[in-house]
Amino acid sequence: MKQSPDAPAAVTLESLRSRVLSCTACPLAASRANVVFGEGSPTARVMFIGEGPGEVEDTTGRPFVGPAGQKLDEVLASVGIAREDVYIGNIVKCRPPGNRVPARGEMETCTPFLEAQIALIQPLLVVALGNTATQWLKPDAPGITQSRGTFYSWRGDILLFPMFHPSYLLRYPSRDKGSPKYLTWLDIQKVKAWLAERESGAPAPAE
Ligand code: URA
Ligand code: SF4
Repeated sequence: MKQSPDAPAAVTLESLRSRVLSCTACPLAASRANVVFGEGSPTARVMFIGEGPGEVEDTTGRPFVGPAGQKLDEVLASVGIAREDVYIGNIVKCRPPGNRVPARGEMETCTPFLEAQIALIQPLLVVALGNTATQWLKPDAPGITQSRGTFYSWRGDILLFPMFHPSYLLRYPSRDKGSPKYLTWLDIQKVKAWLAERESGAPAPAE
């Protein structure tokens, strides 16, 4: 994959972070308040990848801390997954104005940073939150309503697992059978089961 001009290989997450915090390689740099690098365990087995920072993330410099982040926290807490035990990041590290979808060129410029994060953290499961992250990470995946809840073989031993974006759940509050919330509740239980199986040494599922 193409490297950002100012992104030579970083040797640690911290050296990568300082590089990313001063990045001005794409147009999103002009309107951001803070770069949102990502946070969590540097040895996480699971990474959650969203689309890009929203307003509260832009203000604080932390991923998924606004309304969608609170929803993500609820989803994780429902199965006893602690934020600190996973890694949480985004496709682009700077907020698209008005929360628009990042442009293809912005994602192309920024994702070498995500690739470097993946290379350093070496997760075994990447949870793509929403359609933008899913389509970027796995362009041949069907749309999110089809792909969510599926463990895809992705790269080597890494599995990719799409889920609805938490902001989608905010728009559809129903918990009825078949609702986005209901399906997400099923999906996060699959993630939890995958973690439990890994801890017990059993093979992981893949499709
Ligand atoms: N939405 C995202 O995709 N990422 C965040 O960090 C916050 C909201
Ligand atoms: Fe750099 Fe990514 Fe921010 Fe663009 S979105 S300025 S590539 S860190």
